[in-house]
Amino acid sequence: MTTAANPRIGTISQFDGQTITLNGWVFNKRSSGKIKFLMLRDGSGIIQGVLVKGECNDAAFEGFDALTQESSVVVTGKVRAEPRSKIGYELTVLDVKPVQIADAYPISPKDHGVEFLMENRHLWIRSQRQWAALRVRSEIFFAIQDFFRTRGFIRFDPPILSATSCEGTSTLFQTPYFDEKAFLTQSGQLYGEAGAFAFGNIYTFGPTFRAEKSKTRKHLTEFWMVEPEMAFAKLNDVMDLGEAFVCHIVKHCLDHCQKELVILERNQKELETIVAPFPRITYDEALKILEKRGHAIPWGEDFGAPHETALGEEFGKPVFIHHFPSSIKAFYFKNADDPNGEGVDHDGKYALGADLIAPFGYGEIIGGGQREDKVDVLERRIKEHGLNLKDYQWYLDLRRFGSAPHAGFGLGVERTVAWVTGVEHVRETIPFPRMINTIRP
Ligand code: 4AD
Ligand code: MG
Repeated sequence: MTTAANPRIGTISQFDGQTITLNGWVFNKRSSGKIKFLMLRDGSGIIQGVLVKGECNDAAFEGFDALTQESSVVVTGKVRAEPRSKIGYELTVLDVKPVQIADAYPISPKDHGVEFLMENRHLWIRSQRQWAALRVRSEIFFAIQDFFRTRGFIRFDPPILSATSCEGTSTLFQTPYFDEKAFLTQSGQLYGEAGAFAFGNIYTFGPTFRAEKSKTRKHLTEFWMVEPEMAFAKLNDVMDLGEAFVCHIVKHCLDHCQKELVILERNQKELETIVAPFPRITYDEALKILEKRGHAIPWGEDFGAPHETALGEEFGKPVFIHHFPSSIKAFYFKNADDPNGEGVDHDGKYALGADLIAPFGYGEIIGGGQREDKVDVLERRIKEHGLNLKDYQWYLDLRRFGSAPHAGFGLGVERTVAWVTGVEHVRETIPFPRMINTIRP
């Protein structure tokens, strides 16, 4: 909470004309003779402080030259409206008390390579673009919670350590668990399904883990996923909810992240076009579009990055692809015979799944669908996928005790933040990204 005793740059307009004290860091500085300029950063924003000889405390004026980039300081000054300032205010500095004079700071305003910046991620997050992207991320977390809360979804926290795999065994991180082995969760979905039958509508929200060997701009090994699950719901409900959800997130950022989007130079006109309805096409229709755009793939193959990009270009807004070949989808999907049809008990060629592809090459941001709700079919699928039936008994119980059609999806937070902010790579959308070759800092 901001109080008069603890003013911050982000809410500086409340202090117009007042003498205040700010705690912060030297972002930048320059001087020209009798006047010195201090760019002060306090985590909530940046303000220009002006030190004028005679007006400012002598010791502070003389000590200015010793202040290095990122030195921590306590600055007292008078807030003054300044139309030429980006934030509309400047500070007439009366006093500067150094707290620590920083060593030579490794990150300067000049260009650095990404590898170097990643090694210095603990410092890089202070830079403007990183700061802005992570603030948008934080706002998106609020948008997510608001959206589900106002719709009566219960937040339901699944475990992170689990004995079961949800999204195939090839990307599991394994860890010893006393006399057993456990995995880091790939998705909260299976537990979310239990939650849906207890509460109706739930959402899980937390970090998920995949031993992804791929080095792409879309893959992390640790990423955050929000996963709503609804009882008595079908494939279309997934697309309806996903569409409303994504529109809500974008609108929330347009309403609450103005200064961040400006720093990020995000084209906001483009974001304003993200309104319902989103196109919905079947996998079969998507193949025809891909063929037309010179990216033909055989039926039964999954999309790669170029295909997702081409589909994004075709529509210029997020597009749902549904009714995938069941052979490329996880064991839990309900299947259909018909590329537009409803569920069948087994061996349907099409999975009742829906993925949402974001435009501009950001790829799949939502993956979800309708779950198999028949115990015998699901049991057969688990075996066919080479999974250990014993570990899934509790999951099968959900089909033994009051089974019902149910459906849900997972939205990847980092890909969503990347798309909304326009940053190129998901590594800039989480404070400390984890990727195949990145475990430090
Ligand atoms: O499509 P996925 O694998 O779906 C599931 O995990 C389902 N169990 C979700 C559900 O139905 N409850 O992953 C969902 C989303 C993707 O669309 C993508 O946005 C994100 O999670 N995602 C990743 N994000 C960053 N790095 C990775 N390695 C990701 N893998 C998936
Ligand atoms: Mg997927």
